Amino acid sequence: MKAIQVGLLGIGTVGSGVFNVLKRNQQEIQRRAGRGIQIAMVADLDTARAKAAVGDGVEVVSDARAVIANPNIDIVIELIGGYGIAKTLVMEAIAAGKHVVTANKALLAVHGTEIFAAAQAKGVVVAFEAAVAGGIPIIKALREGLTANRIQWLAGIINGTTNFILSEMRDKGLDFAVVLKEAQRLGYAEADPTFDIEGVDAAHKVTLMSAIAFGIPVQFDKAHVEGITKLGAADIKYAEQLGYRIKLLGITKRTDKGIELRVHPSLIPAKRLLANVEGAMNAVVVQADAVGTTLYYGKGAGSEPTASAVIADLVDITRLHTADPTHRVPHLAFQPDAMSDLPVLPMEQVVTSYYLRLRVADQAGVLAKVTGILADGGISIDAVLQREADEVGGEGSTQTDVIILTHDCVEAQMNIALAQMQALPTVLAPITRIRKEELA
Ligand code: NDP
Ligand code: HSE
Repeated sequence: MKAIQVGLLGIGTVGSGVFNVLKRNQQEIQRRAGRGIQIAMVADLDTARAKAAVGDGVEVVSDARAVIANPNIDIVIELIGGYGIAKTLVMEAIAAGKHVVTANKALLAVHGTEIFAAAQAKGVVVAFEAAVAGGIPIIKALREGLTANRIQWLAGIINGTTNFILSEMRDKGLDFAVVLKEAQRLGYAEADPTFDIEGVDAAHKVTLMSAIAFGIPVQFDKAHVEGITKLGAADIKYAEQLGYRIKLLGITKRTDKGIELRVHPSLIPAKRLLANVEGAMNAVVVQADAVGTTLYYGKGAGSEPTASAVIADLVDITRLHTADPTHRVPHLAFQPDAMSDLPVLPMEQVVTSYYLRLRVADQAGVLAKVTGILADGGISIDAVLQREADEVGGEGSTQTDVIILTHDCVEAQMNIALAQMQALPTVLAPITRIRKEELA
C-alpha cells in the first residue's frame, strides 16, 4: 500500500524531531502502522534551514497553504504554535478534509470547541497527544485506557520549564533568570516564556485534560492561573523544613458542585512520588474509581520526546484512515452529544489547605492574634513554625517569619482571614499564601 502522505507546517524544535525520528525508526513504525508514513512536504518561513534539515526528496515551501492545497497530502502536522496563523491553517486543513496532528495546547485550550466541532462535521481527526506532557501518552490514557472509570481528580507537573527552574533553584541555588535562559537554550520554553513561568502553559494543558477526564467543553477562560514568579527562595526552604516540596501543579477535580480547574504553586508532601519529579520531567497522577491511583511520568518537553507523541498520533490516524468516522474515538473522549454541563467552579469555592508565611514583629501576642483570626474563620491549623528573629533578619532583628500550615478550608474563607491578618499592624509585609495538596 502507498505510504500515507504527510505535510509538516513548521520545522523548528518539535518539527525537526518528528522528521528525524520518523526517518530513523521508519521500518519499525511501518510495521506498527501497517503502511509507510512519509513526510512529503514541509512548510517553514526559513526555507534554507528547512531544506538543510530534510535534505533532498522532500518538497520545501515557505507558504503553508501550498501544503494544505496539495490533494496528495492526507495528514497535516501543525507545529508552528500560537493562536494566530496556526488557527487559520488548522481550520483550513480541516475544511480541505485533511486530518490534523498538533502539539499546540494554546490553540486547543482556547479554540478547541470550534476546532473539534469543525473536525467532527468534516469527519476528520484532530489529534493532540503532544499537546499535554510532551512524550507521556496521557491523552491516550485518559481517553482510552481509563475509559471504564469515573475519574475523580488529576494533578500534574505539566510544565517542564517551571519544574526545571524550581529544581535548579532548590538544588543548585541558581538564580531564576539564569535557569530560565538555560531552559530556553534546551528548547523547553515556549516562544513567549511568560506562558511557562506565569502558569498559562500548564493551564492550557490541564484545561485539555479536564475536558477529557470529565466530558466537559474546553474552558481555559475559567481556569485559575498562577505561576512561579512570586515564589520566594525562603518559601522553598521553609517548605523543605516542614517536609514538603513546592511544585507548580495543574489540578482538576470533580466535586458535588462542579469542576475545580486550577494551576498554582502547591506544597506536596516530600514523600509523594510527584514531589520527586525533577528537572524538565513531567508527571500526572490520576485518581479514578475502578483503577485507583495511576501515575504517568516522562519527558514533558524537548525535540524527540515531543516528536514521539506526534508520531504516535500519525500512526493512530494511519490505522484509522479508512475507518468509518463515527466509530473513531471522540476528540474529548465523550460523544459530542453526551457532554456534561457541570460548571467549572470559581476559585473562591475551591476547598484546599494552605501554607502561609507572615513576616511579623517579634513581639508577645502576635501569634495569638493570627491564630485567633484563623480560629474565628473556622480554619484549623495543622502546624506552626516560628523562626528565630536573628536567623531571619540577622543579629538584633526585631522581625521574624511565622509559617502556618492549615487543614482544608474554602478559599473564600481563607481570603477573608488573609485580609484580616494583613491588616494587623504587627504583620509587616504581604503574606505569602501557597496552596497545599496532600494528594493522598
Ligand atoms: P519552534 O519555534 O522551534 O518551531 C516553530 C517553527 O514554525 C519555526 O521553524 C518557525 O519558523 C516556523 N513557522 C513560524 N511561522 C510559520 C508559518 N507561517 N509557516 C510555516 N512555518 C512557520 O517551536 P517548537 O517546535 O518548540 O513548538 C511547536 C509547537 O509545539 C508549539 O505549539 C509548542 O507549544 C508545542 N510544543 C513544544 C514543545 C517543546 O518541547 N518545544 C513540547 C510540546 C509542545 P521561524 O523560526 O523562521 O519563525
Ligand atoms: N514549554 C513547555 C514546557 C513545552 O516547558 O513544558 C512542553 O509543552
